[in-house]
Amino acid sequence: MANTIKIGKIEVEVNSTPSNYIPNGSKDFIDHGEILKTIALGIRDNLPVLLIGESGVGKSSAVRYLAEKTNNGLRRINLNGGTTADELVGRQLLNDHGTYWVDGVLTDAMRKGEWVVLDEINAALPEVLFVLQSIMDDDGYLVLNEKDDREIVKKHPNFRLFATCNPPEYAGTKEMNKSLLSRFPLCINAEFPTPAKELEIIKHHLGAAVSESELSIKLVGFANETRKSKEIGNADYAINTRDILNTLRLSNDTEPMEAFALAFANKLDVTDNKALMATARLHLPTTKKKAMATRKEVKQTNEITIGKNYILNGDMQGAYIGMSSDKKIIGEWKQLGLGDIIGNISKENAVKNDEFKVTATFYENATTGASEKEETALGDKVASMVEFTEGGNKGQTSIIIHHPAVGESAKIINNLYEIS
Ligand SMILES: Nc1ncnc2c1ncn2[C@@H]1O[C@H](COP(=O)(O)OP(=O)(O)OP(=O)(O)O)[C@@H](O)[C@H]1O
Ligand SMILES: [Mg+2]
Repeated sequence: MANTIKIGKIEVEVNSTPSNYIPNGSKDFIDHGEILKTIALGIRDNLPVLLIGESGVGKSSAVRYLAEKTNNGLRRINLNGGTTADELVGRQLLNDHGTYWVDGVLTDAMRKGEWVVLDEINAALPEVLFVLQSIMDDDGYLVLNEKDDREIVKKHPNFRLFATCNPPEYAGTKEMNKSLLSRFPLCINAEFPTPAKELEIIKHHLGAAVSESELSIKLVGFANETRKSKEIGNADYAINTRDILNTLRLSNDTEPMEAFALAFANKLDVTDNKALMATARLHLPTTKKKAMATRKEVKQTNEITIGKNYILNGDMQGAYIGMSSDKKIIGEWKQLGLGDIIGNISKENAVKNDEFKVTATFYENATTGASEKEETALGDKVASMVEFTEGGNKGQTSIIIHHPAVGESAKIINNLYEIS
């Protein structure tokens, strides 16, 4: 009885034949969008699988992971850049004794029962498409036309074929050949992972300390924004999981902005690079200390403490009372009672990822309003004066109301994290 593993509900056999090409050391694959399950189906039922998706969504790693788990040799062929049919099929070579035949990668894998991944299949030359179509029919086989005996090579029962390509609108890719496309009974549309899944992926690769850091959380959020922009045609690029992992790895040794430039932004043209770095400075932690900070959910108003740093997790309308860097105005706010604050000062919207330090606290029963330096035990804390330390409001001061009894803006307490 063959050894098997289960991917979701799908049971696939573990191969017992040795191969030099069995991957090892691949990280666990987080199955977002059921990619693994669909590939497993292709493996079990011997169906070629096409994975279409943006660069870095995990197409290659999903196949690699399953090859390792099932103990199958995995051969990769990139079809971009004029890969010729004889690289796949094989060729006659010449030595002192005459000519001799050498199998190509595809022929070799078909004989031995290894898996083949064809990357960038949409860029394949017509002669390569011809070869692929001939082997992809149910009873498909390969004729080694150039070989003296015109040998016919049949597919070993363990042979599996996978192909990957970027989505059709991707710059520089050709539309895929229709008759080849129709020979893939399974076509996976691999999407970017959700932020929660992406943090899980980071955790698997780099550990919890990194995945729970401010830099990870913000990079994932920022990457997500670039993906949305690209999708609606506002940008030509998107930060992918590979870029995030590379930035995080580099940030061990460099400041976060430098790591981001090295791992991603420097690949863009000068204009995009400059614009992206300017936006990144507003969205990502700028120092190593901030990058490695972790967040703790604030559950009660009384946890909000002078001198500590906080981050907001959502957009909220009218959550800030006033916004100023003018010492005189801020000084006046400190003298106000809460009624005056709520009633008389303009309201500003809060923006996700705003970061601030609490500089004073307002108490329900205080006669003078704020206590700038110390916290007294006068009733519940109702509001805090905050100074922004990161983001678009950096350097400005505002007031947040956070007592549950004080209407809509009090919701801020549900979206606030202490960072340390
Ligand atoms: N779901 C996932 N689980 C674990 N790691 C992942 C996952 N998705 C992506 N990664 C990691 O992200 C990186 C990029 O993934 P991968 O190379 O598989 O992308 P790809 O879709 O093949 O991209 P390309 O089109 O550029 O070849 C790898 O380091 C991979 O380990
Ligand atoms: Mg790949």
